[in-house]
Amino acid sequence: MIVHDQERQTFTLNTRRTTYQMKVDEYGVLLHTYYGRRVESRDLSGLVRYADRGFAPNPSEAGGRREYSLDILPQEYSTSGVGDFRLSSAEVELPDGSCLLDLRFTGAQVREGKYGLEGLPAFHGEGWETLSVTLRDPSSGLEVELLYGVWEEEDLITRAVRVTNAGAAAVRLRRVMSLCLDFCRGDLDMITFDGGHARERWPSRMPLRPGVQGVGSARGVSSHQHNPFVVLCERDAGEDHGMCWGAALLYSGGFTAQAERSQFEDVRLVMGPSPLCWTLAPGETFTAPEAALVCSPDGLTGMSHRFHRAVRRRLIRDPYEGRRRPVLVNNWEATYFDFNARKLLDLAGAAAPLGIELLVMDDGWFGQRNDDLRGLGDWVVNESKLPGGLEALVPQVKALGMRFGLWVEPEMVNEDSDLFRAHPDWALGAPGRPRARGRGQLVLDFSRQEVRAHIYDALKKVLDSAEVSYLKWDMNRSLTDVWSMALPADRQGELCHRYVLGVYEMLEQLRRDYPDMLIEGCSGGGGRFDLGMLYYTPQIWCSDNTDAIDRLKIQYGTSFCYPVSCVGSHVSVSPNEQNGRVTPMETRGVVAMGGTFGYEMDLGRCTEEERSVIRRQTADYKRHSRLIQEGDYYRLTDPFQAGDFTAWEHAGPDGREALVSLVNGATRAAPPFFSLRLKGLDPARRYRINGGEQLWGGDVLMYAGYPVPTPWGDYQSTQLYLEAVEESE
Ligand code: DGJ
Repeated sequence: MIVHDQERQTFTLNTRRTTYQMKVDEYGVLLHTYYGRRVESRDLSGLVRYADRGFAPNPSEAGGRREYSLDILPQEYSTSGVGDFRLSSAEVELPDGSCLLDLRFTGAQVREGKYGLEGLPAFHGEGWETLSVTLRDPSSGLEVELLYGVWEEEDLITRAVRVTNAGAAAVRLRRVMSLCLDFCRGDLDMITFDGGHARERWPSRMPLRPGVQGVGSARGVSSHQHNPFVVLCERDAGEDHGMCWGAALLYSGGFTAQAERSQFEDVRLVMGPSPLCWTLAPGETFTAPEAALVCSPDGLTGMSHRFHRAVRRRLIRDPYEGRRRPVLVNNWEATYFDFNARKLLDLAGAAAPLGIELLVMDDGWFGQRNDDLRGLGDWVVNESKLPGGLEALVPQVKALGMRFGLWVEPEMVNEDSDLFRAHPDWALGAPGRPRARGRGQLVLDFSRQEVRAHIYDALKKVLDSAEVSYLKWDMNRSLTDVWSMALPADRQGELCHRYVLGVYEMLEQLRRDYPDMLIEGCSGGGGRFDLGMLYYTPQIWCSDNTDAIDRLKIQYGTSFCYPVSCVGSHVSVSPNEQNGRVTPMETRGVVAMGGTFGYEMDLGRCTEEERSVIRRQTADYKRHSRLIQEGDYYRLTDPFQAGDFTAWEHAGPDGREALVSLVNGATRAAPPFFSLRLKGLDPARRYRINGGEQLWGGDVLMYAGYPVPTPWGDYQSTQLYLEAVEESE
């Protein structure tokens, strides 16, 4: 609930377990007074400290009050150049060349429902309240509207910012952060989720040191290297205890997330799109994308659960909110570019009797795309591979009892393509400067409407030619040579953001035209795994790394913010195609069930024994899909800590059932005995495990633990299905 206390000039955002508060002070400065465990106070400004400190400037209205300094006070949206030397929230270049921004309160409004952001992803749905606070720079007339959405039930607070030029001349925005969050304490850790291609979102936790630290992406996409999600937490916070603040950006372009521990042991966190250089003409508005905040007073698990529920219930849109995702087989690792209709139908024919529901035709079906050097941009079916096009292929796939899915990479073009030969200027790149290739391809200028329209029309023809139930939208390089034919010199700095808006626009149009088609995002695996994409694509291919053992780390890191129902995960061949590791089929299935389950291998080459394992896996996945996708996800162990196994659990919300998955590492002789303490059960209930006779108390399983079976051989796995027995049993 949002409370505006007119008398005290405070705004309190209460959720079930947390309180967020700001206060307008006597000079109109919007102070941030608190964000933490819920407290019942309408004015927490007593927590704010004032002190006369050297080299801390005082605003002119403060007169002789030397203890009043913006450099010390916790602020809701920090200024630049006027006395606060910590991280700024917004930076501008004004018509007179000055870069000064002071922000004072002018008004506020509370209303039912959630604000929306035109052209940008945003949380939505029932149960929201919105607070809009307007600040103004008195000298330039720039207006900053701070938007807050409060979803009380899951302690979710969203923020977005609109900057409007109410002056008479154009100004240039150099920075507009989506959020600024001040903490009156410095003893915090920061967790970021970092890595690279095939190694995404490895958590990295570090105590904040004095000064600025952070992560970001200058690649034009949110990136494999750093995820736009960070956590600040108490030094001793763990899975089940300690204060944690998670912040995620709903944005798929470049970003920055920075934390500064300042001289007086306070911390400021800012997060927003970056780099930015945006010219704002008089009357125009720039919108910084939404950020989502969760404060968890009970550790990292509680934080993740809240993000998971919020994403599932208030970000993913109909009809995929809560809908079981199909078990699919993708031909990429089965055939790479070397396929034709016969091979695909053989794959579908092998898959259908195993309980697989959808065939995805990956890269290579269009133009002259026989390798990754040509064809991108030519979205016309290659009839020498697929005679009669999708019109002929898809009904045959359907006759086998399978649905059909298609891979596309709309944002890209190869120089060896009809599209590029006709429109070389449609690719990003500055005249006279050789362009850098990535995977042998260039990036189309998606900021341009005519480029998007051409690609969309071509894709639409293909999509309309047959029943396509699923689309994989891929994107396989970072942006370089960021220059557009369509923008004047002084607006080239807008290109990266305009590009992202163009991608969002096309995705929205796809959703409108094909409301039932499931779209899976992908960028060489998880190079654009962010809440922004999830608004349009209810699932994202988590990583190009399909090795089950590497995936333990990748899926573990991903789980801090993103729910299982969004995490694309497949069983592939052994030895694995990325690292040559040999793992049992059972284990590969257990790991893939930590996401949207599927296969990515030539099923026609499986032995009868493997086929029977697959049949069992698809049946298990379907049986437990609700629990897997909607249950509470518990990280039972940390795969980055030396240990013999990695385990996680999906628990039903009422403690009636749970699915525990455990994967052993490389084996060793005479291993110690381990117990695995489960979570999220009802201590008062008794559970049957995998249908066995013996009953286990929930309290025993949670407090003493389940005796982990001793593995024989490398990378063995165990899956335990726990069902609470009725009291009369
Ligand atoms: C990268 C994706 O992550 C893969 O799954 C596959 O679709 C290839 N691109 C195809 O080029």
